[in-house]
Amino acid sequence: MSHLASARPRPCVAIAGASGRVGAALIASLAADPVDLVALTRKPDPARFPAAVTQRAVDFDTPATLAAALDGADRLFLAQGTSPRQVENEIALIDAAVAAGVKHIVKLSAFGTPLQLHPFDWHTRIEAHLATRDIGYTLLRPSTFNDFLLRAAPEIAKGNWGGAAGNGVVNLVDTRDVADSARVALLDPDSSDWQRAFHLTGPRAWSMPQVAAELSRLLGRTVGYEQRSAEDQRARLVAAGLPDFAAGVRVGLERAFYESALQETTSTVQLLTGHAPRTLTAWLEENLALFR
Ligand SMILES: NC(=O)c1ccc[n+]([C@@H]2O[C@H](COP(=O)([O-])OP(=O)(O)OC[C@H]3O[C@@H](n4cnc5c(N)ncnc54)[C@H](OP(=O)(O)O)[C@@H]3O)[C@@H](O)[C@H]2O)c1
Repeated sequence: MSHLASARPRPCVAIAGASGRVGAALIASLAADPVDLVALTRKPDPARFPAAVTQRAVDFDTPATLAAALDGADRLFLAQGTSPRQVENEIALIDAAVAAGVKHIVKLSAFGTPLQLHPFDWHTRIEAHLATRDIGYTLLRPSTFNDFLLRAAPEIAKGNWGGAAGNGVVNLVDTRDVADSARVALLDPDSSDWQRAFHLTGPRAWSMPQVAAELSRLLGRTVGYEQRSAEDQRARLVAAGLPDFAAGVRVGLERAFYESALQETTSTVQLLTGHAPRTLTAWLEENLALFR
């Protein structure tokens, strides 16, 4: 895809979830591009974003704040952290974007949307609403992020990692590859009317015992993966301080891993960005100190 060559010299890209994992990587990815960036955040703060990024205070829980937040935006990157209000909030953002004259929405969805499991079913509902609106859009459906392993880091460091994923395999993806793909979709000058979806994955699928073996190799000590029931894992996560809702989402995800529901490998990151997807091994090496 070619890069931006719009009639407007500097199109305005609004980024919802700008301080999040993908949003922050997207701002870094777009830093050298000829676009004006507007970060939508509940907590504007000069320390949180690069100086060139305009910050607008917005709380998606308060729809009245959305129109002003999107004023002048040509394109919208749409993401929100997983929340029980995600469906109504993202639908309100879509409607506000249409009303504000936004030409194209790049929505962060999830690979696995047929699953009857939060947040996949939420994304299905948001995508269905987007399809009813007269606006171009790109759905990015990434597999589970490598960051999924971060919550396990303290257990891995203590040598008692485990979960409910069994020997099922999952293709984990680097959030920077999701952001690089979002960048290409946002900058594409021809895509305003398009309605399309991309499944984003890393280069291969892994079982959790295979991840444990890779960590063992990198750390120079044995890391195991204890097989636990879903009930046991949920109780452990709650005991470790995770809210019940978040523990339920995480165990649901581990059961999706168990069934290898997210094992597919696609070439989409390479096709969109022109570079190969980052490997899980490279990500583990970058973050190895957290697992020691
Ligand atoms: N984790 C995975 O493995 C995975 C895989 C595939 C898809 N996804 C999808 O990715 C999305 C999450 O993306 P992410 O991980 O980049 O997000 P994240 O790191 O959880 O960050 C979410 C951002 O949303 C903003 N936000 C949350 N509630 C808000 C509100 N009420 N009003 C305004 N802003 C709000 C926050 O910004 P402020 O604090 O600055 O306001 C925060 O920076 C979810 O839809 C999830 O289903 C995740």
